[in-house]
Amino acid sequence: MKVGGKNYRTIWLKEEDPRVICIIDQRHLPHKFLIEELHTTNEVAVAIREMHIRGAGLIGATAAYGMYLATIEAREKKSFSDHLQNSAQLLKSTRPTAVNLEWAVNRMLDAISNVQSVDEKIICAKKAAIAIADEDADHCMNIGLHGVSIIEEISKQKQDETVNILTHCNAGWLAFVDHGSATAPIYEAFARGIKIHVWVDETRPRNQGASLTAWELLNQGVPHTIITDNTGGHLMQHGMVDMVITGADRVTRVGDVANKIGTYLKALAAKDNHIPFYVALPSSTFDWKISDGIKEIQIEERNSDEVKYISGLCDGEIKKILITPENSNAANYGFDVTPARLVTGLITERGVCNATEKGIVDLFPEQK
Ligand code: MRU
Repeated sequence: MKVGGKNYRTIWLKEEDPRVICIIDQRHLPHKFLIEELHTTNEVAVAIREMHIRGAGLIGATAAYGMYLATIEAREKKSFSDHLQNSAQLLKSTRPTAVNLEWAVNRMLDAISNVQSVDEKIICAKKAAIAIADEDADHCMNIGLHGVSIIEEISKQKQDETVNILTHCNAGWLAFVDHGSATAPIYEAFARGIKIHVWVDETRPRNQGASLTAWELLNQGVPHTIITDNTGGHLMQHGMVDMVITGADRVTRVGDVANKIGTYLKALAAKDNHIPFYVALPSSTFDWKISDGIKEIQIEERNSDEVKYISGLCDGEIKKILITPENSNAANYGFDVTPARLVTGLITERGVCNATEKGIVDLFPEQK
């Protein structure tokens, strides 16, 4: 996507030195657009854990590049395979919910194990990481092409009046390598001249909606309005939302969706108001091993300071401000699970399907 007229992906290898990974450091957005360079597997692990980058697809792609750096580092170690295994463990332990992380690291380990010499392993790891990133961008583009027909249909029903779409958190290009999942159909609709407007949930406590989704939409010129997280139900009751599209961090084989905390409440409100609730995801976000999202998905609990403090731009400086009594406890669950029965459909790179095991497996028959 474009920033200041220049095309960017969210992660790439430095042109002058392809042993260096470049990322957009999302901690500074929307106020500053800064590129960070990562040189070691450890730096990659910190970038994922401390949310310099975040979002399911991008976490996976970043971990893949981290494994590529691990092969370079492993050359200097006593045991190549021990360093590789330890790096894989380190990267997998950075964040628990987005399944793309484990998927990407395992895919890298598989690719690296297919060749023998150290030099071949490094070359193979580099190719595999680039392939994972390219695939992520490609899949998101296809999600856009499939998802746009849903928006087109609603636009027709409304006789070309504005289609109002509500989204939660950031499942935009910043959460992937390009295009985004939830935003891909939105960008495609906008490019086709369909009249759209996006309600952007601020998404406390990290405010991915207010800081990232809004910044993205503004850059692309898509009309949008930021709302507090509790506003969606009211808008739905008053006919001001035509559809909801969110992303996902992990989806079970029966269609239960783990996504940013608060997604479940939006799905309940959408159901009560007969508003279609779609979830957009690339297939790397399916966890084919599990069927019960509520019982089986580990939900990340983050530092309570993220709830107690809020940070923002004040007199030209980023400041962090305490908004609670200092000694109150705060709980910070990062995600929740929306049961499949509340999901109208899943928008994937292969098409749109029902959030049921049959619907999903019909699109991905290799997972039967
Ligand atoms: O904690 P984050 O920012 O990594 O959370 C992930 C998300 O951005 C959302 O849950 C998103 O909707 C799905 S990730 C594409």
